[in-house]
Amino acid sequence: MGHREIPAEIERVLLDEATIRVRVRELAAQISADYAEINDLVLVGVLKGAFVFLSDLARNLTVPHEVDFIALSSYNKGVVSTGAVRLIMDTRSSVTGRNVLIVEDILDTGYTLDYLFRAFQARKPTSLRTCVFVSKPDRHQVKVPIDYLGFEVPDEWLVGYGLDYADRFRTLPYIGVLEREVYETEG
Ligand code: IMP
Ligand code: MG
Repeated sequence: MGHREIPAEIERVLLDEATIRVRVRELAAQISADYAEINDLVLVGVLKGAFVFLSDLARNLTVPHEVDFIALSSYNKGVVSTGAVRLIMDTRSSVTGRNVLIVEDILDTGYTLDYLFRAFQARKPTSLRTCVFVSKPDRHQVKVPIDYLGFEVPDEWLVGYGLDYADRFRTLPYIGVLEREVYETEG
């Protein structure tokens, strides 16, 4: 490939396209095996960040599934999360009595997924699991169950493959580390 320039704001590539592709296929194979006997799997992607991962993951599944989305407002100020989470868009379909897999791009403090897990648990799904593409273990503040994890990553600001900084860099095909000076000077 190599047709696309890496933006100057990217310090380095952490997970390249090939690495991501292999891991997504592994996760999809594992999920397909685990849900082989289940006919009403619903993938619930968390907008905006999860749309890229969910799209690749879903297209590699070999089990029947429905795709749905929710959107959250997390009152982020630049790169600093305040921990407060609010649902601003709900799923189209009810998840009660269904097998739900929440799909998230990243687990940082864990507040977002903790909130979502509780909110969905209250709706009485038949089963509820979580699939997170990358997780920053050094940053976790609350313990959230992750059933499927792509990679553990260091405590740095990551962009690409759905992850953004102020809505930029989201559609880079790899996950890169953002130059520290970008958010230290602009934030
Ligand atoms: P939480 O801290 O686990 O609740 O994560 C909150 C949200 O912060 C995530 O869903 C992402 O939208 C965002 N976030 C956390 N770390 C990063 C990062 O390194 N890059 C891009 N977004 C991030
Ligand atoms: Mg997010």
